[in-house]
Amino acid sequence: MTLNPKLTNLLNEQINNEMSSSYVYLAMAGWFERTPYAGFAQWMFAQSREETMHALKFYQYLVDRDATVELQPIAQPKMDYASPMDAFQHSLMQEEKVTQQINDLYEVAEQVKDHASKNLLLWFLNEQMEEEKTVRDMLDRLKLAGEDPASLLVLDREAGSRPSGGGGRGKPGGPGGA
Ligand code: FEO
Repeated sequence: MTLNPKLTNLLNEQINNEMSSSYVYLAMAGWFERTPYAGFAQWMFAQSREETMHALKFYQYLVDRDATVELQPIAQPKMDYASPMDAFQHSLMQEEKVTQQINDLYEVAEQVKDHASKNLLLWFLNEQMEEEKTVRDMLDRLKLAGEDPASLLVLDREAGSRPSGGGGRGKPGGPGGA
């Protein structure tokens, strides 16, 4: 079944959205590297890799559906943050934006009755729910820690224990084996 042209365009846009997201997290990792928070830097780096894997999953899907891949430029991300809390607040906004994008894509897939695309997008909707929860949990704990350096360093150490192998949160082989 040929992929609907509107859906094809939106899936291509989503490759760009995910790569942009990867770039945002890489910028956050770079910012954290200039602070004492090596654990948060590692967390952001792992998240950047995960977003790249998301982009590649959309790329592979377009290829598998015999659709044309069209890559767009990636905008420069914000490079500076005021605090760990500020960075994670931006992370939450980023994830909420992506959730909205995937939700909109799902609606189009439903309109054109493309069930394979709906299946792919359901995987992403679940992934987004998990990512938003992870970031919200971190924000809750950052709020509790406030300005206390000892508490912040405990959270930093915890963030640094996140696997950096590209799978993220212990999922072997990365998202959907992409
Ligand atoms: Fe792939 Fe977290 O958006």
